[in-house]
Amino acid sequence: MRTRRHPPLSERTAGRWWRLPVAIGFPLLLVVPLGWLWYDSLVPSTYSVMDMGHADYGGGPAPGRGGGHAGHDMGGVSLATLTGPRDGTPDLTATLTARQGTFELASGEQADGYTLNGTSPGPELVATEGDLVEVTLVNADVEDGVTLHWHGIDVPNAEDGVAGVTQDAVEIGEEHVYRFVLPQAGTYWYHSHQVSHRQVRGGLFGTFVVTPRDDAATSTAEDLTATLHTYDGVRTLNGRTGVSRAEAPAGATVRLRVVNTDNGAAPVWVSGAAYRVLAVDGVDLRGPTDVRDRTYVLTAGARADLEVVVPPGGFRLDVGGGTAMVVGPRGSRPSPATEPERRVDLLTYGQAGDLPFDPDRADRRFDYDIGRRPGFLDGRPGFWWTINGKMFPDVPMYVVEEGDVVRMTIKNTSGDVHPMHLHGHHAVVLSRNGVPATGSPWWVDSLHVADDETYEIAFLADNPGVWMDHCHNLPHAAEGLIAHLAYDGVSTPYEVGRDGDGAHNHPE
Ligand code: C2O
Ligand code: CU
Repeated sequence: MRTRRHPPLSERTAGRWWRLPVAIGFPLLLVVPLGWLWYDSLVPSTYSVMDMGHADYGGGPAPGRGGGHAGHDMGGVSLATLTGPRDGTPDLTATLTARQGTFELASGEQADGYTLNGTSPGPELVATEGDLVEVTLVNADVEDGVTLHWHGIDVPNAEDGVAGVTQDAVEIGEEHVYRFVLPQAGTYWYHSHQVSHRQVRGGLFGTFVVTPRDDAATSTAEDLTATLHTYDGVRTLNGRTGVSRAEAPAGATVRLRVVNTDNGAAPVWVSGAAYRVLAVDGVDLRGPTDVRDRTYVLTAGARADLEVVVPPGGFRLDVGGGTAMVVGPRGSRPSPATEPERRVDLLTYGQAGDLPFDPDRADRRFDYDIGRRPGFLDGRPGFWWTINGKMFPDVPMYVVEEGDVVRMTIKNTSGDVHPMHLHGHHAVVLSRNGVPATGSPWWVDSLHVADDETYEIAFLADNPGVWMDHCHNLPHAAEGLIAHLAYDGVSTPYEVGRDGDGAHNHPE
């Protein structure tokens, strides 16, 4: 057995004087920059989204007011003045009372989350295009506060329901009145935009169906809503697990309004009949044709109106996980098909048509480039989303002027899918991965941007305000995948975070 001889300490360290400074200095080399990155990532306890990140003018003229980096305060008008009509008798009046706790799904199971008027989904709102709507949101007992955002309805900015951007969260015992005119027919939904990654998943939402004023074309159709939501891992349609049923006579034309309120995309397919995609995100497609044996991928937040003529044996709409809806004469049992591999591609579906503006003469061109990298988000280390290479809150503020034609290139190299949602506007898809759209004009408010995909979209800046433009996989938004579109001359008086009165706004 050999014994190692240990020299005395003085001998061991002699001539290695550098060890101590290195032992201290080397970690410092890591700790100081890391500490700085950590410190730099801290988000102030309250902030205005106007102060977030950096102004991006998209190659257009820098606005006269504001400009510069410091706070890019757009000055001018407070968005709080950009309301719907304050007078006039509403065509639709509703009071929606938000509560927190356990409740029963329509199919009887217990769930824990949030309700509106005692149910989740909340009451379906139905009105006609051009109607004046007045909804009073009451917060009975939701601790974090609540708001209502009208997903896909291009309302005036002050009615948009985003806590800390367009209003303060409604505290327990308070109420908030939303008033707006419905600009177009279509299938929409509403949901809380306060702590939305928790509240929406927990059930604080409902659907909103807007029928056309000139209803002649659709009056013969049966109108059904199929709202998809996963409560605590349980997938439902209209709050029902398993296979639900709706009666319709053979030969009837059914308009199925499929709404995805989940954070992930859902495969949707029909067995026993062909279907047509009549509308996407509330906008009719031009020249829709019959689809058979194809899956329609409904991204998070998106809606698709499918038309099906009921066969004598009925048909079945599947949304994955065995959750389905059978529509047909009483007792029909259409056999379920497995999810078709082929998919409907809206890039080529339907007939080309004119756009209301020329995207080739864009006033501004923006990049919304989504990536991911390690870093600190508000002091928390992780692997976080980036927009144009930077992490929240150092993200772009896209600045436009009213009347601009805007092009945006959304590029995703982040390794995950992002359902991108721009508030207050519908955008038209121009191309995907460089391939131009040749089908029906394809208008979206929620766009499925898969990993390694690049979409070019365009929209008209015709709705002044400060608008969120974020990922509708709501936990991603809470992880910083959020930017805003701001009109020159409009600013928000609201703040995200806590203020002195104890009001707290956490839109994501
Ligand atoms: Cu459906 Cu920013 O929301
Ligand atoms: Cu995302």
